[in-house]
Amino acid sequence: MPIPERLNPSFASARINDPGLLAAARNRLIVALDAPNAAAAEEIVTRIEGSCQWFKVGLELFSAAGPAIVERLAARGYSIFLDLKLHDIPNTVAGAVRSATALGVRMMTLHASGGPAMLAAARSALDGLADPPQLLAVTVLTSMDAAQLHAAGVDRSPADQVALLAAMGLEAGLNGFVCSPHEVAHLRSLAGPAGVLVVPGIRPQGADAGDQKRLAAPAAALRDGASFLVVGRPIVQAKEPAQAAEDILKEMAEAMAG
Ligand code: C5P
Repeated sequence: MPIPERLNPSFASARINDPGLLAAARNRLIVALDAPNAAAAEEIVTRIEGSCQWFKVGLELFSAAGPAIVERLAARGYSIFLDLKLHDIPNTVAGAVRSATALGVRMMTLHASGGPAMLAAARSALDGLADPPQLLAVTVLTSMDAAQLHAAGVDRSPADQVALLAAMGLEAGLNGFVCSPHEVAHLRSLAGPAGVLVVPGIRPQGADAGDQKRLAAPAAALRDGASFLVVGRPIVQAKEPAQAAEDILKEMAEAMAG
């Protein structure tokens, strides 16, 4: 009797070494460049050269190194996710979206709690562009539990507040969200197949959790509907970052092969 594909280890390993599948996985992995300055960030990039296509530039690095780091990475051929979590009046957010787009950023975040007018202004700032960057709404920060929300004047549960803000984002014409692994299946059901779900809080089996609480392994997050995975410390703080990235890519490729 033939061994079913999924139980046949040699078949599985042949598939996960398939260059097409690994390339597809590489396009869905975003490495968080949480570094204090440009030199430290570029050292990380050089150590994992070839293993990934996407880098996330967040508040720490952008505050230290500014737009120049985004331009340098884009010039090296990388795709940049600018994670500044914009939250301001609609006119100001629309201007920031235009500036980031002009820098060559391919994804950027804004807070859904900025309200429908802010989200609509951000979306309108991209009108007419042939290849606009992806806007991603942040619903409830994973650092906010029920008590934190209550203190901020929100009496819904975190899950209900996520659902409310996601519905508001969809209504305003956004179809991208950042969410924890625990929310991804629900958001996938709300956003449908065209939704773009970007998921941090990813740990390969056996990795140190660090300060992350709502975690999942790469394969589980993909199976629950993640479009992209964001991974920081398990890659950038590994002894062999390129090897750590390759191991994660193989796990992703295996999950994508079904
Ligand atoms: O090192 P680690 O893999 O935990 O990094 C995850 C990245 O994703 C960090 O840059 C972190 O700021 C970001 N992030 C997160 N949880 C969220 C939103 C963003 O961990 N809810």
